[in-house]
Amino acid sequence: MEISARRIVVIGAGHMGRAIIAGLREKALDVSIDIVEKSQDRIRLIGDEFGIEPRPTYEPGQDDVVILAIQPQAFEEFSAAQPSGAFARSLVISVMAGVSIAAMENALNTVRVVRTIPNTPSEISQGMTVLCPGKAVTGGETSLAEQIMSVIGRTVTVRNEALIDDATALCGGGPAFVAYIAGAFIDFAMKAGFDPDQARLMTAQVLRGTADLMYGTGRDPEEMCRQVMTPGGTTEQGIFHYRDNGLHDLLVEGLNRSANRSRELGRIGR
Ligand SMILES: NC(=O)c1ccc[n+]([C@@H]2O[C@H](COP(=O)([O-])OP(=O)(O)OC[C@H]3O[C@@H](n4cnc5c(N)ncnc54)[C@H](OP(=O)(O)O)[C@@H]3O)[C@@H](O)[C@H]2O)c1
Repeated sequence: MEISARRIVVIGAGHMGRAIIAGLREKALDVSIDIVEKSQDRIRLIGDEFGIEPRPTYEPGQDDVVILAIQPQAFEEFSAAQPSGAFARSLVISVMAGVSIAAMENALNTVRVVRTIPNTPSEISQGMTVLCPGKAVTGGETSLAEQIMSVIGRTVTVRNEALIDDATALCGGGPAFVAYIAGAFIDFAMKAGFDPDQARLMTAQVLRGTADLMYGTGRDPEEMCRQVMTPGGTTEQGIFHYRDNGLHDLLVEGLNRSANRSRELGRIGR
């Protein structure tokens, strides 16, 4: 399905909506962008940054791609305010956490819904977005959604919606979990005597370099550990300590708890 000359309507130009608009502009896709926003502060900021005047309400067009980037708790009021059939000729891509495909299909009266979960590095085009198309969404429409979400980073598409809760834990929460580990690295470096800037740079570069080495070379994490762990050397002292104290299992359990909470919140929202 062609993206050329499509109208993309971003509804809600907060953190995530802004990141998508910035990505669409940066990648210079051949699309027109409309924005629907209700916060006066946001309207001013978006106008200054992108030179686009947001509209207060959605005015349906033909073959629109509508990106729903409002807060999940604002969805009910938003959908109730739309005229009937407003989304009949659109593809809806939602970034709202915890709002199921079925809930959107019912409230918006359309079956062309793609549910996605992006994350905060989207702000710098390094996002990770997991997409799940509704059953009636075609392959072409799914590719279109992937193309749009790839303006803020990488994408993975799944057909089983239950995986969105696990993606919420790993990809949505992942930046916080990794930042938590980064905090320990920075504390260690500062206690050792590095200044804060040096500690931040060293930690960030280790994270970035490790991620690029792992994904770029296809090496698995165990192999990467073995590569640095000379027997009797320095690194194995740290790895042995983490292994003996169950750090791996603790990290997996944190992700499990996070995914379970996502499932719970999804049930409350139904
Ligand atoms: N930020 C993330 O890292 C992240 C990650 C994954 C998923 N998400 C999802 O992305 C969505 C947006 O998150 P965010 O962090 O970008 O939120 P946000 O910064 O609060 O932005 C949402 C914007 O939508 C506006 N809005 C609310 N109802 C509206 C309506 N009916 N019409 C037009 N605009 C409306 C809000 O205005 P008011 O402030 O006046 O209400 C606000 O400016 C959420 O559903 C969240 O679950 C976010």
